[in-house]
Amino acid sequence: MTSPIATAAASPPAPPDYDDAIVKKFVIATVLWGAVGMLVGVILALQLAWWPANLDLPYTTFGRLRPLHTNAVIFAFTGNFIFAGVYYSLQRLLKTRLFNDTLSTIHFWGWQAIIVSAAVTLPLGMTQSKEYAELIWPIDLAIAVIWVVFAINFFGTIAIRKVKHLYVAIWFYMSMVLTIAVLHIVNNLALPATLTRSYPIYAGMTDALVQWWYGHNAVGFLLTTPILGLMYYFLPKSVGRPVYSYRLSIVHFWALVFIYIWAGPHHLLYSGLPDWAQTVGMVFSLALLAPSWGGMLNGLLTLRGAWDKLRTDPIVKFWAVAVSFYGMSTFEGPMMSIRVVNSLSHYTDWTIGHVHSGALGWVGMAAFAMLYYLVPRLWNRKLHSVSLASTHFWLATIGIVLYVVSMWASGITQGLMWRAFDADGQLQYASFMDTVLQLMPFYWIRLAGGTMYLTGLLIMAFNLIKTAKGDTPLVAATTPVAAPAK
Ligand code: HEM
Ligand code: HEM
Repeated sequence: MTSPIATAAASPPAPPDYDDAIVKKFVIATVLWGAVGMLVGVILALQLAWWPANLDLPYTTFGRLRPLHTNAVIFAFTGNFIFAGVYYSLQRLLKTRLFNDTLSTIHFWGWQAIIVSAAVTLPLGMTQSKEYAELIWPIDLAIAVIWVVFAINFFGTIAIRKVKHLYVAIWFYMSMVLTIAVLHIVNNLALPATLTRSYPIYAGMTDALVQWWYGHNAVGFLLTTPILGLMYYFLPKSVGRPVYSYRLSIVHFWALVFIYIWAGPHHLLYSGLPDWAQTVGMVFSLALLAPSWGGMLNGLLTLRGAWDKLRTDPIVKFWAVAVSFYGMSTFEGPMMSIRVVNSLSHYTDWTIGHVHSGALGWVGMAAFAMLYYLVPRLWNRKLHSVSLASTHFWLATIGIVLYVVSMWASGITQGLMWRAFDADGQLQYASFMDTVLQLMPFYWIRLAGGTMYLTGLLIMAFNLIKTAKGDTPLVAATTPVAAPAK
């Protein structure tokens, strides 16, 4: 049977005036930084299961490598993935080349330079100590400049477009470009003291509130809205069907961006934040379920009618799992925002499980779907191996399940042990070590799941390199319709 990936390639190669060279660069950077960021994730998982892996060196301790992991997977892997997808789809949706080639080049190399400086400063212990905003002030300034370069290129392309209508994906991208700029600048306002140190302009609870308004919306406008935009472009393209409901996509877009911005206080439940503000965070988080599921259902229903491809086409498989995990993590999140549930989940591995069902399940699987779609088209080569792509799919899917389920078990164990009392009303597990020892089996299972996920990514890297270097052009490999597998 002919490869369904080849079938999906029925579209002609890109017209020559699109700038695909920049998209290729971002694609390569995505795979490279994805491998680095997730390798550090696996090392962290090992350190939690087996402490000697900290190597007794300050540079390699858990405390320094953890922000290296989060910055690498969020800003390097996810960031490059988003830029690749936005630049590819924007040109095709607007039927025009990107606004300015020089800006594209500055954007690419500037962003990579920022990543390299993060990779150097974080292990050296230089940090602002704000989660997901650890980078020191000179790097923050560079991020602001490069983001503005991206914004000019993005809005410039919209300004010179040859198509009047702005497809819904572009609205999702726009929300990212604007919101991330505001979040980054407001949260990082600080008075520099030396080249590597600064003092935030906020203090106490205000600092915490600004930080979690930023932290939560970084999830919203970096790990969610742009990827929904990419879903609205690449998923229908991959299955060869229109979006299930265009009206739903518009409605859930406006509801999502309006509600997201108020939900940040769910990170500060039971803190010194006024009760009413905590309640606002909780209520908006519960409301967020509706627009999130609007997107999830629109994605799943677009797949409806293409279920035959689900058996054979790895791109469709990756999308189906990505959208399902989006639905799952956006159900779990609102539940964790309910005060009583949060009193159990907060500070435990349950949060880590939630994070990675979104990160590995939604962000990672969507990235893989897009990469398998893009590389054959950008290099005009048939995918090297569909079966390796399927192997990647199963390693990743089983890896996520092992990661997430072990963290649920570990988190609930922690939460319940911390609140257990004995007959005299004393804490039953007074020593922190009592709980830690119970968690060890779960940490080994997480390590196994993470290693599987990373192995899948490395297999993908091999497959994509072989694809780019292959000699079967995509068009020649095209057949009109793939026969269903026997
Ligand atoms: C309706 C959507 C969502 C809601 C209401 C929500 C809610 C929550 C809640 C209540 C927490 C725990 C806060 C705490 O106890 O400290 C949390 C943590 C987190 N969530 Fe979500 N979540 C949602 C979707 C997602 C998705 C899709 C992702 C990833 C793609 C994600 C990434 C994270 C991260 C990274 C954290 C950890 C933040 C930290 O460092 O403490 N969330 N979320
Ligand atoms: C092979 C894949 C991965 C492994 C093994 C892994 C492992 C880990 C580990 C061990 C931690 C520290 C947990 C703790 O402090 O208890 C962590 C934290 C985190 N990881 Fe990953 N990770 C992986 C991929 C990813 C990806 C792809 C993303 C995002 C796109 C991501 C986002 C995060 C975030 C946001 C945190 C901080 C969570 C919080 O503070 O609540 N990870 N990861």
